[in-house]
Amino acid sequence: MNHLVSCDQIDRPTLDALIRSADRFERMAGRLNPNEGEGRLLATLFYEPSTRTRLSFEAAQYRLGGQVLSTEAAGQFSSHVKGESLEDTIRVIGSYADAIVLRHPEAGAAARAAAVSPVPVINAGDGDNEHPTQAVLDLYTIHREVGLQDGLTVALSGDVRHSRTIHSLARLLALYKGIELVFAHPENQGLPADVSAALHAAGVAVTHVKTLREAVEGCRPDVLYMTRLQRERHEVGATWREDWREFCLTPELLGRLKNHTAVLHPLPRLSEIPAALDADPRAAYFRQAAYGVPVRMAILAALYRGPHPAVRSLSCVRAAG
Ligand code: NCD
Repeated sequence: MNHLVSCDQIDRPTLDALIRSADRFERMAGRLNPNEGEGRLLATLFYEPSTRTRLSFEAAQYRLGGQVLSTEAAGQFSSHVKGESLEDTIRVIGSYADAIVLRHPEAGAAARAAAVSPVPVINAGDGDNEHPTQAVLDLYTIHREVGLQDGLTVALSGDVRHSRTIHSLARLLALYKGIELVFAHPENQGLPADVSAALHAAGVAVTHVKTLREAVEGCRPDVLYMTRLQRERHEVGATWREDWREFCLTPELLGRLKNHTAVLHPLPRLSEIPAALDADPRAAYFRQAAYGVPVRMAILAALYRGPHPAVRSLSCVRAAG
């Protein structure tokens, strides 16, 4: 595998090794480990807004001893404005950097970039399609907060149709046996067909419910994964948005979760989790955001571990893990 475009590319041994590697980086608590990234240049090319993904990738790269080239508003300030194709931009940046982290509003953009890039492309979110490094980070959070094991029940609530983090996380959770996934979403706003088909093929038990309350009370999840309404990806005038309060966590609903349940959110959160709930020990979303650095260190180190100038295969992490 040359690139990280989809969670389809990550198998269980690779995921286990990435988690072990992230544990090691987390224990180092911010000390530099210059052997892994020294002499490497990482380009972060973002055509959509980002806080956590871009900055945690850049922090990870610096903490590995490498350096960063960054275009944080490529949609406004890169040659995209002059009409340059994504493919041409990627070819050029690939001749400057050892790897490219790409965020783009179009589904499939990361695959298009990977098809022409001379260096590894990491998908940092392509439209409403996938966000694979967030999924690895979400799994790492489950590992730290609840314990990653077969047989977990995970409820995923909110904008199931448009949340690329839900699509990627569901694909990774399918690597575990006996997993039950409960999707809470408004009518006709469920999983895209390709994600449903992947879960079906993996034999995952899937339930769909129409309110967060049904997921919490009916399924008693070990993990509750909340998401925001992805307004930027909706058709104007979509009426079901009025039902959004059915997908907002309240103190009463939080109280009904099991004591060990972890509440995750990729952030940014809007009204779906009131700030008053942040002090509850089950509210894990800020710890989750912090895990972004060691997890992305693990992903970058896996890419860099092969022959210079950059490893072409994430599978190398297995040998080193
Ligand atoms: C997510 C994204 O960009 O898909 N954010 C993130 O990367 N942490 C979630 C979102 O924007 O809702």
